[in-house]
Amino acid sequence: MPGNEQEYKYWGKLARTFHEDALYVVGPDVYQEVRRWLQNQFEVTDTALELGCGTGFFSGIIADRVKHLTATDFALEMIEQAKKNLSQFSNAEVQKVDSYDTSFADNVFDAILLANLLHIVENPVAVLKESHRVLQSDGRIVIVDATGHGMSFFKKMGLVVRYLRRFGKPPSSNRSFSPDELAAMVKEAGFAVEESVLIGKNAKAVCLRGRKIG
Ligand SMILES: C[S@@+](CC[C@H](N)C(=O)[O-])C[C@H]1O[C@@H](n2cnc3c(N)ncnc32)[C@H](O)[C@@H]1O
Repeated sequence: MPGNEQEYKYWGKLARTFHEDALYVVGPDVYQEVRRWLQNQFEVTDTALELGCGTGFFSGIIADRVKHLTATDFALEMIEQAKKNLSQFSNAEVQKVDSYDTSFADNVFDAILLANLLHIVENPVAVLKESHRVLQSDGRIVIVDATGHGMSFFKKMGLVVRYLRRFGKPPSSNRSFSPDELAAMVKEAGFAVEESVLIGKNAKAVCLRGRKIG
């Protein structure tokens, strides 16, 4: 189920202002909390991969904690932005890769980051299975996924309105996972789940760490 023309165009068009728009939609607080959680997940890491890196914002948070980082996305305009934003890190490279079929060899990465990817793809379990394939045994899957779960009805409505104002109607999926729903998919893909928590006072994100077993 690789990406299609409509999806490339949708994400490509958003690339130039994506990070500002995302900040407008969810607000700065949740980003700060996620940043703290995320940095704790990336100590002692040789090789890390981010799938669906967008403009490289989250790769930028972990880049100085890993020896080598490969940040990837399928939209060329996102890749251009990510290259600019990650140019200060000599250990980071940016590549055009579809998250369903990455073409990396089996068992090569110590850790994989999926930030705000799973809720927008049609088949999150397929992306998780591909991540499982390219991770080394005992490797970590680290997920940050914006969600409306745990928000009041009015806050959720505000989020939806701000999303539509900046991003318009998404081309495929746009879901909100709870920590348990995300954990169930991660387990289905063959990982052990070590932590799955809801972070954020206003806007929320599910943050999960899993491990490849076997
Ligand atoms: C919601 S944005 C998140 C970007 C970034 N991770 C962040 O949180 O700031 C989703 C990103 O995933 C990319 N994407 C969507 N489907 C993809 C796929 N099948 N393969 C690779 N990238 C994909 C889009 O181009 C977009 O940059």
